[in-house]
Amino acid sequence: MAVIPVELAGRSYQVRVGSGLLADLPAQAGKLLRKERVPIVTDANVARHWREPVEAALLAAGKEPRWLVLDPGEGAKSWQGLAHVTDWLLAEEVERGDHVIALGGGVIGDLTGFAAAILKRGCGFIQLPTTLLAQVDSSVGGKTAINTGAGKNLIGAFHQPSLVLADLDTLTTLPPREMRAGYAEVIKYGILGDAAFFEWCERNGPAVLAGDRTVQEYAVTESVKAKARIVAEDERETTGARALLNLGHTFGHALEAETGFSDRLLHGEAVALGMALAARYSARRGYISDEHAERVTAALDAAGLPSEIAALGIEADGRKLAGHMLHDKKMDAGTLPFVLLAAIGQAFLDKEVALDDIATFLDEELRAH
Ligand code: NAD
Ligand code: GLY
Repeated sequence: MAVIPVELAGRSYQVRVGSGLLADLPAQAGKLLRKERVPIVTDANVARHWREPVEAALLAAGKEPRWLVLDPGEGAKSWQGLAHVTDWLLAEEVERGDHVIALGGGVIGDLTGFAAAILKRGCGFIQLPTTLLAQVDSSVGGKTAINTGAGKNLIGAFHQPSLVLADLDTLTTLPPREMRAGYAEVIKYGILGDAAFFEWCERNGPAVLAGDRTVQEYAVTESVKAKARIVAEDERETTGARALLNLGHTFGHALEAETGFSDRLLHGEAVALGMALAARYSARRGYISDEHAERVTAALDAAGLPSEIAALGIEADGRKLAGHMLHDKKMDAGTLPFVLLAAIGQAFLDKEVALDDIATFLDEELRAH
């Protein structure tokens, strides 16, 4: 088991990565589970595979697991979903000193984390991430949120978990498309800040996706270390360090909006395509060479991730796609900071990008491929 500390004044916690962690939940959580009753929020897909080991471990430790099993999918991250979870936690008499468990992907983690942030002005929570995306990204760093009609993740809070247990066994039941989508966030850490890790991904990406446990553990551990380092430096995304984690997200967000935040384009797939676009736009601006942009594209292609807008079959032109970016929550006093590349492994925040130029670039992309 690898243990990665997330160092935050007064709110430090550990991310533990390994096998058999769900079945060891009572020992891993220790005093965090201070009462007999243990409230757990999950979704039906996750419950089908992973409820049993959690239930058995808690019962064996003399606990009383209490389950809220939600319908799978992004729809749970809504006002209605939030009301459902918070009403249930109140009915379960959860107190501020208690810990609620989020067992699932980013949807369950974001929703349960936000419910914990506002329940009685804040109770504790433990993340048990079961997707690759959640293990390497969403369970770490304390961003919690729901979606509204106005957009994704616009209502939320920073609320750090007390513990994250990333059990690699859970990846064995994850559909391959979800694995690939999560892998986009793994390779992102290489592209944005660690050229050596990017090269490792070029060599080992296929083995990660094929389920090789040793390389998976390395991929998750290195990703979490990178995220923990950035979160410790800039917990609330105020200095620009954490904003680099948004590499690929501004382009990706526009494409997710255009495809209706639907299964047509999963979040990780949108991030992959967004990173390819950010690399090519960086080359267009002369920050990196065309060869380096092509290397980013090739690494995403090799993982079966999308890297060309044309393949999406969308009708929109560049202006419409750029228009979606105006609703991005990263808009700041009329400008939208873009994460671009000065090199593979060296991202930077460009606050001077004109959306007109982005629209022209996207039109070229739509025509060129
Ligand atoms: P998800 O939670 O919807 O999970 C994807 C699918 O896999 C779902 O159908 C789920 O039921 C299923 N599933 C989960 N674990 C499984 C397992 N082990 N075996 C079989 N099926 C399993 O999606 P996700 O990709 O994990 O997360 C996406 C969400 O995360 C989005 O809402 C996004 O906004 C959010 N996110 C948040 C952050 C953050 O910092 N908080 C970062 C990135 C993404
Ligand atoms: N997923 C981006 C962040 O946590 O900041």
